[in-house]
Parts: sequence; structure tokens; C-alpha cells
Amino acid sequence: METNKYKQDINITPELQQRIDELLSHYPSDKKKSALLPVLHEVQDAHDNWLSTELMDKVAEILEIKPIEVYEVVTFYTMYNQKPMGKYTFEFCLTSCCGLRGADDMMEYTCEKLGIKPGGTTADGLFSVAGVQCLGACGYAPMMQLGDFYKEHLTKEKIDQIIKDCKAGNIILHDK
Ligand code: FES
Repeated sequence: METNKYKQDINITPELQQRIDELLSHYPSDKKKSALLPVLHEVQDAHDNWLSTELMDKVAEILEIKPIEVYEVVTFYTMYNQKPMGKYTFEFCLTSCCGLRGADDMMEYTCEKLGIKPGGTTADGLFSVAGVQCLGACGYAPMMQLGDFYKEHLTKEKIDQIIKDCKAGNIILHDK
């Protein structure tokens, strides 16, 4: 898998284990796989926003399932990253409504401004840009996801401000 190119320190801290245990408590002990998606979110959040093969294997071990059962989920959903990502990952919805409202132009503008291509990460590790499928906020097109939050009705001016806020450390990424 692609992740083999990158090294990642795996650290299941007591706090992370506690959050995993809390998620698992919602399911029967022989149905731990049911918690796979939220557990992957927690584990990814605690590991710089990406999941190496080794980390996916660790999740499989925790949930007592086969590694392939984790790989197939991680490779299906765009919200899981298989390589190191920037601290601030701009995920532009490129589906119909956003597409019609200029999402491609917004993504291209952002990439030009940051000097990267879609799917790329800046050399300082601060920013990544990716195109994703509909994020369910079609009425706010064009929009993108940044951390746990949506940035809506995007314009070039708004993108300039978001990048400025990220560089100044004024952007909150997670709602917990
Ligand atoms: Fe962009 Fe649905 S088309 S959020």
C-alpha cells in the first residue's frame, strides 16, 4: 500500500484508549467492528490526520478484526488519509452543485496560492488540498471541509482570509 513509503509513530495513549473504549461500549463485545468508522476517526485525529498501514493493523488488533477489513474502509472513504497531510487540509467538494458554483476555480485558486497541485501538501507541512465528493452542504456551494468544520459560499477573498487565519493559528480544526 502507498502508506509503506511513509513512517508514522504509533501511540495509543491512555486518553485515546479511553475514547476507543467509550465507543466500543455502545456495541456488543463480539461486534467490535461496528465501531470501526468512529474509532478510525479518533485514531486518525490522534496521529496527525493520517493512517499508515501499521496504524491500520493496530486498529484491526484493537477491534479483533482482520487488517483487510480496515484497509477496505480506509481506502473507500475520502475522510481517511493514507499519507501524511498538512495540518490544514482543504477538502473541496467538486460534485454537482459545488461544481456549478465554481468549486474547481476555488480549488485551482487555492492550489496556485499555496504552490501545490490537488492532492499535494506544502513543503512546510502546513497545507494540503484535495477534491472530494458531495459533503451534504449543497445549499452552501461552493464549499469545503477544514477539520471538523465547513467553510461555505467560498470566494477567493474568503479563501485568502482562511489561509491567513491558518498561518496565524486562528483556525479551530476540531469541535471537541
Ligand atoms: Fe457540494 Fe453537495 S454538491 S456539498
